[in-house]
Amino acid sequence: MKAIVVTETGDPQVMSLTDVPDPRIGPAQVLVDVAACGVNYIDTYQRSGTYTVQTPFTPGLEGAGVVAAVGADVDWAAPGDRVAWCSTAGSYAERVTLSREDCYRVPEAVDLDVAAALMLQGLTAHYLSASSFPLHPGQTALVHAGAGGVGLLLTQLAVARGARVITTVSSDEKEQLSRAAGAADVIRYERFRDMASELPRAVRELTDGVGVEVVYDGVGASTFDGSLDSLAVRGTMVLFGGASGQVPDFNLQRLNRGGSLSITRPSMGHFLRTDEERAWRAGDLFSAVAAGELDVRIGATFPLAEAVAAHEALQGRRTTGKVLLHP
Ligand SMILES: NC(=O)c1ccc[n+]([C@@H]2O[C@H](COP(=O)([O-])OP(=O)(O)OC[C@H]3O[C@@H](n4cnc5c(N)ncnc54)[C@H](OP(=O)(O)O)[C@@H]3O)[C@@H](O)[C@H]2O)c1
Repeated sequence: MKAIVVTETGDPQVMSLTDVPDPRIGPAQVLVDVAACGVNYIDTYQRSGTYTVQTPFTPGLEGAGVVAAVGADVDWAAPGDRVAWCSTAGSYAERVTLSREDCYRVPEAVDLDVAAALMLQGLTAHYLSASSFPLHPGQTALVHAGAGGVGLLLTQLAVARGARVITTVSSDEKEQLSRAAGAADVIRYERFRDMASELPRAVRELTDGVGVEVVYDGVGASTFDGSLDSLAVRGTMVLFGGASGQVPDFNLQRLNRGGSLSITRPSMGHFLRTDEERAWRAGDLFSAVAAGELDVRIGATFPLAEAVAAHEALQGRRTTGKVLLHP
């Protein structure tokens, strides 16, 4: 089969489409023909070496497709089943093997492209808004990169929980998309010369000087200081990524000075630990999509062979919503 392979970490060009053996199916696994692979920021961290992965490897954690064969011990899936996943290494490929814990059945009403687009960023948006900092009606949240994959979904889920959402974005098109997702106010942070002082000033102008109860920050290095200073007293910083670079070590006394702030640095896997938790989160998402209550924007689709262009677009801030690869 064809798969993207990284033999040495580095810039996007280290990825190349290669002939590799089909994956071997274990007794407790299913073999899936991949219909769509999801591109996520974590794929860029692994490809570049920011997160350590042993080389050579096939990037990608997410996708959707159709079960082609099942292992001898599998009674939870059958050939022909439509499934999706979010934590299976080697997903930039024509075929993958899945185990039960990372195999989600896709309802008939949900298209396979939409399912692939929903999994990792949707489950992230779900745990951020429902668990990392569970939002309640009347609270105000700041969501960075509001037109991104996580940003558009998180904004919709936060608004559905009754929160007021302020987002940041870097272009007119992204501002329109973010407002359509439910953002009450959109801050154009690309215009700031000094993010650390101008971001909190803009947030306080929009909140009568109070600040926000929570910042969901997946941008990281460039926004972190300004995010902390945008929080209300006893507010919570949810740092969940570093699209602009990783946040350096910092002095805990800043939480004291900022007003008894809290900070958490969550990771999706820790919020998908049991069958019940996985079924709850995925069930909420698929039901909302099927009911027309959650819009999943697929902003760009590339052939698998063009994974390099997909990563360049994502890291170049040229994408909105989800980026998919088609084998
Ligand atoms: N911890 C977890 O469980 C978890 C799970 C999923 C994703 N994440 C994190 O969530 C974040 C968003 O992921 P995503 O896949 O949905 O990506 P994305 O938001 O679709 O793309 C990243 C966005 O970040 C913004 N950005 C700001 N400064 C940037 C810079 N210097 N370089 C590149 N982008 C910049 C851009 O939006 P603007 O142009 O509008 O600024 C860009 O479109 C990432 O940090 C990712 O690691 C974490």
